[in-house]
Order: sequence, then structure tokens, then C-alpha cells
Amino acid sequence: MNVFATLGCRIFQKGLYLASLFLPFRLPEEIEGADALAVKLGEMGLRKPLLVTDRSLHALGMEKKFLEAFRARGLDYALFFEVDPNPTFSMVEKGYAVYRDEGCDCLVALGGGSAMDAAKTLSIRIAYPQKDLTSFKGILKVHRKLVPLFAIPTTAGTGSETTLAAVIINDATRDKFQIDDPKLIPLGAVFDPTLLGGLPPHIIASTGMDALTHAVESFIGHSNYRQTKKDALEAIRLIHEHLLPFYKTPRDEMEARAMQRAAFLAGAAFTRSYVGYVHALAHSLGGTYNVPHGLANAVLLPHVLKAYGKSVYKRLAYLSDMLGLLDKTHAKKERAEAFIRYVEELNAAMGIPEYFENLVKEEDIVALARHAAKEGNPLYPVPKTMNAKELEIVLRSSLK
Ligand SMILES: [Fe+2]
Repeated sequence: MNVFATLGCRIFQKGLYLASLFLPFRLPEEIEGADALAVKLGEMGLRKPLLVTDRSLHALGMEKKFLEAFRARGLDYALFFEVDPNPTFSMVEKGYAVYRDEGCDCLVALGGGSAMDAAKTLSIRIAYPQKDLTSFKGILKVHRKLVPLFAIPTTAGTGSETTLAAVIINDATRDKFQIDDPKLIPLGAVFDPTLLGGLPPHIIASTGMDALTHAVESFIGHSNYRQTKKDALEAIRLIHEHLLPFYKTPRDEMEARAMQRAAFLAGAAFTRSYVGYVHALAHSLGGTYNVPHGLANAVLLPHVLKAYGKSVYKRLAYLSDMLGLLDKTHAKKERAEAFIRYVEELNAAMGIPEYFENLVKEEDIVALARHAAKEGNPLYPVPKTMNAKELEIVLRSSLK
């Protein structure tokens, strides 16, 4: 990217960084288990939560223990389980009808990204019953107080239980867009490691690598705060210690809880410090070929880190030192390369390929890179700015 374009990006990012110092960022309260959630709702004077979840989790009966805990603590509840992957306006409207007709007073989202996205958007619909949801597209468009939202993650990766973002699709136009507002950060994140017990290893691998990508991209970016750096580093340390053991023993609740914490901290880091071109390219591939988000990130992460070159040597060398990968007497470049190798080996140990094989069509590459450049620039405070042409080269390096 040329000097002037880079300068434009950096000025934009600095402005956003300074503005965000005044935003009401907060972390959700960490709540341990179903009973503690029911107690919390009671303490807050809430009496009827709407539990929002998706069809597949409902089919497994995942919400049962929470509903039982509500009952045991004398709370009434309603259930909405018609969330499908990639939630839409019409799903939100259906959920709103249940919320209104049942006279609920708060939301509990149980699931991965989709249930959380649906519940976050639903909280906007409740505060603004008449307004077109499209008008909330973008940053800081929510001005009213939202109903309390509690999030129960059923995977350890997206960090959606701690982020300010909701992704939603307008079914009429098929426009998929993001709503970003600190008001969307859940009031509480509820952790129950038993919910993760049935996860297949490949999901543990891809969601865990999504969390690692959040932590690494926020740590190497230009918009760090002391707290986000601390959260990202702690997330990386936890992932280093627990992802592979969790992958190998999916029913180990201690490992599951450690990975839940890692995903939560990584989410807290990137919701303030952003992600980078790994996510921009992963979203491109996800949108066009439906590649699972975590898997796309996992494959892309080493390739993008290599493309950042010397702009990330210092930060990656720091990560290598923290994990004790290479003696500190080695040059920064070597220690940075050791960290990239570490990511490659972690991928390989969990059966994640080094390249996307027979996935990307040659005629799509230019559009994919353009899409990623549009998402990343000027928003993401990446260590080294790249234009569509440069991102095309990075994307090609990940293909086989
Ligand atoms: Fe992600």
C-alpha cells in the first residue's frame, strides 16, 4: 500500500483509538453455572427471562438445566429456539413476538455465535419496537437502554459472550451486516464446562484457533490498551496450555473451563483492539465458500503473519519468549519465525491443513481479496497495511 493510503488508514485508526477511550466498554460479569445465573436474575429483580437458543442445541436439550434452575429459584421463563445459523431479521421478529406476548423482562442467549447475534439484535428490537433494524448498521447507533442480556457460550472460541458486535442478515435484501455498540456487550457471561462435553474434536480445534487468532491479531495490532494486551497474552498462554489437551480429551471439564476463559479473554481483547487481515480474508472465504470461520482463521493465520514480515518480529518474538519456544539469545526474526512455526505445528497436531486445497476458484481470487481489503481498510489497526493486490498475494500463499 502506498504511503498516502497508509497514512489515511493510520489517521482513521488513531482517531478511533482516541474516541474509544471515551466509550463505555465493560466486561460482562463472569457467572459460574446455571444456579448462579438464576440467583443473579433473582437478585436483580428480574422474574421472566426469554431463553434464546438454536434448533440444534434445543434438539440436544441443552437448555434444560438452565430452565430447571430458573424453576428451582422461583423464576418464570419462556423459550425461543428458532435460531438457525446466520440469523435473520425474521428470526428476530419471531423472537420478539414471544418476548412481548410472554411478558419477559430479560434475555438469556445459549449457544455459539448465532444465538448470541440473534439475542443481541433482539435486545435492540425490544428497545426500538418500530424502527427498521437496518438503521442500526455500523458503529454506535444504539442510544436507548437495552434489557439485561446474559450469554451462555456452548463453544470456546467466538468470544461473542463478551463482544459488542452482532451480525445479522436482512432477509429481504440478503444484506449481512454488523451492529457494533458497547451497549450490546452482555451483562453477564455464564460458564458451564459440561456444555462443551459433547463437542467433536474438529470443532474444538477450529473454535480454539479462532480464539487464538483473536488474541494474536489484537496483540500485534496498533490499537492496544494495557488491559487488552494483558487479556490477549493471558488468552494465548491458556490456549498454549489447554487447547491441545482439550482437543484430545473433550470431556475433561477442567480443560473445557480453561478454554472458555481463554475465549472470553481473547474476545475482551479484540472487541476493543480489533482483529486484522486474517479475519478479513476469513470472512471473504466464509461468505463465498461457507468455510467455517475458525477453520479459515487457523489456515490463514501463519500465512498472514509471514506476510506481515518484519513489522511483527518484535511482538511475535515476545510471544515466542512467553511460551518459551526459543532461547532469547536468538535474533527477533528467528524467535518470531518460531512462533509462526508453533502455530503451524498446533494446526497440524489437530488435523488442520496448511493450505486450502481445491477450494478457491481462480476467477474469484480478485474479488475475495478486494472484499478483504474493504473490510480491513481503514478499520483494522494492522501491523502492516496491505491493499487488495497485496492481500491477493497473501491469499494465494494459502492455496494449493
Ligand atoms: Fe473470529
